[in-house]
Amino acid sequence: MTVSDPVIRLENIYTAYEGADRPTLADISLSIGKGEFVVIGGPNGAGKTTLLETINGMLPITHGTAVVCGQNVRGDGVHVRCRVGYLLQNFTFDPLTPFTVEEVVLMGRFGMIGLFRKPGREDYEAVEKALQLLGIQNIATRPIGQLSGGQQQKVLLAQNLARNPEVLLLDEPFSNLDMFARESINALLAQLVGSGITVVIVSHAFDDLPDRPVRVVVMHDGKISLDRECHPAEVGQVIRNAGSVPRDA
Ligand SMILES: Nc1ncnc2c1ncn2[C@@H]1O[C@H](COP(=O)(O)OP(=O)(O)O)[C@@H](O)[C@H]1O
Ligand SMILES: [Mg+2]
Repeated sequence: MTVSDPVIRLENIYTAYEGADRPTLADISLSIGKGEFVVIGGPNGAGKTTLLETINGMLPITHGTAVVCGQNVRGDGVHVRCRVGYLLQNFTFDPLTPFTVEEVVLMGRFGMIGLFRKPGREDYEAVEKALQLLGIQNIATRPIGQLSGGQQQKVLLAQNLARNPEVLLLDEPFSNLDMFARESINALLAQLVGSGITVVIVSHAFDDLPDRPVRVVVMHDGKISLDRECHPAEVGQVIRNAGSVPRDA
């Protein structure tokens, strides 16, 4: 799809993991506009996580042009990551992690605080707002390692939101969440997209998607096999029709 003034622009991108004998992403071109809601589908191993990490400047791009939030990803990944939130797939904290929920959310501000500045009022306000958005003020002083996987996912989302990102990349954020949490996070995502944040989400859960047009991008074997807009209720069908059978749905 063509997008004018994209916030994410990938052109003929090849990404290779170190030591791999062929590129994991091959000839990917994708433009995403401000405020778009994009669902990435496709089977395990298709390259969905690799695509998010490429956008975020975490993997070596061997060929092609990648510009995210006006920054060149090749060579300026740090600046890209200041403006992009990224929720990792299957990340959980060690039970002995010595930080509370509010400390973990405050860490989201470090990119903006700078290493040697003490957090100020603005930082604590951003933390408070993020805790509120996720409805987790009640666990703010609990040690992060002692929470459930779903609670930890919410905290990590709050950590990302505390940085006021322009783009939010979410890698299977619903995998540990129950139906109620999924509904409330989807409502939050709708709100974020409505406020102009671009959301790119890898997911196999298509219930309760925000009630707005959804851009569906399906990947197979390191390539984009489908890229179209559809109604939120059609997303599952569109991805299935593209030949993808989510094995871990
Ligand atoms: N760290 C890595 N080193 C080498 N190959 C990897 C690494 N991570 C993923 N891959 C390979 O890249 C391909 C795409 O993986 P991934 O992006 O994780 O797929 P998905 O998220 O769609 O399940 C797979 O073939 C996988 O084995
Ligand atoms: Mg993945």
